[in-house]
Amino acid sequence: MRTQRVVLPHDVLRGRVAVVTGSSRGLGLAMARALGLHGAAVVLAARSDDAVAAAIQRLRAEGIAASGRRCDTAELADVEALRDEALDRGTLDIWVNNAGTSGVFGPTASTPVDDFTRVVRTNILGTFHGSRVALPVFLGQGHGDLVNLYGQGDRGPAALQNAYASSKRWVRQFTETLQLETKGTGVRVHGMNPGLVETELLGRVTSQPGYEQRLGGLQVVVGLWGQTPGEAAGPIVDLVTSDAPEFRFLTKRMLVTRGLRSVLAGRLRRANRMPLDITVLPAADRP
Ligand SMILES: NC(=O)c1ccc[n+]([C@@H]2O[C@H](COP(=O)([O-])OP(=O)(O)OC[C@H]3O[C@@H](n4cnc5c(N)ncnc54)[C@H](OP(=O)(O)O)[C@@H]3O)[C@@H](O)[C@H]2O)c1
Repeated sequence: MRTQRVVLPHDVLRGRVAVVTGSSRGLGLAMARALGLHGAAVVLAARSDDAVAAAIQRLRAEGIAASGRRCDTAELADVEALRDEALDRGTLDIWVNNAGTSGVFGPTASTPVDDFTRVVRTNILGTFHGSRVALPVFLGQGHGDLVNLYGQGDRGPAALQNAYASSKRWVRQFTETLQLETKGTGVRVHGMNPGLVETELLGRVTSQPGYEQRLGGLQVVVGLWGQTPGEAAGPIVDLVTSDAPEFRFLTKRMLVTRGLRSVLAGRLRRANRMPLDITVLPAADRP
């Protein structure tokens, strides 16, 4: 279901504290910026101290109240410390489980086991940890917005991307279950599928040997339907100021209208805007 875009007062989130995991770059940083520009105090997190510090500096330079810390969402203690950092700002109102990662492209039968585990730890365990620490605070105060990130595969299978796609299917079911469990509590749980966003997740891909050619079409697809992180982040503000259970960018209508518009506007040339960096695993690394 798509949320209706509404005109929001600039400081609609004034007084609220928002945590965005995986916000040192990409969509997470852009969503933190969007929330911050609408008045929220934002708490950033990612696994690199330096990258978090740099992101905080960037947002502060734009007049946003930003703080943050290093946090691996696969580690419960890190996520609890992140919640405490937010509560030190006085309150906790919005938690976005954005941290996510893709797996090595190729068939499941030869997927490196440690790579599959890495995707599960961030996309599944990380989403659980964020929800597990934020929800008790939200339920205790009778309000709060939890947002989980959907993605390719959340509605059905996606061949050669099973770790990522099935993890997003899990995120959808987990989120819809939380929506049932929080009904009538004042707490709102949302899912967000931003569509294709030009970030490292899409632009830096690792492939099993022999499958890299199949990634060739990705730049064309991104040229047609890709968005900058800033474009993709906008709906987060609508989402956390509404009861909408879900935002989904790529509806069938969007696919057709935006695709046509891109072709007509010659936007396919934009395909070169996001260079595709493909690393191919050595054959010896195949299990
Ligand atoms: N890009 C797309 O087209 C697209 C489409 C649909 C959905 N999404 C979803 O949107 C979310 C953001 O993706 P993105 O494209 O912005 O990816 P990205 O550019 O690769 O950024 C991912 C962010 O998450 C952090 N991160 C990764 N693993 C983490 C962990 N275990 N703990 C804490 N932080 C972690 C990264 O920093 P560190 O590596 O330093 O930790 C980085 O800040 C993901 O959930 C993704 O599935 C993306």
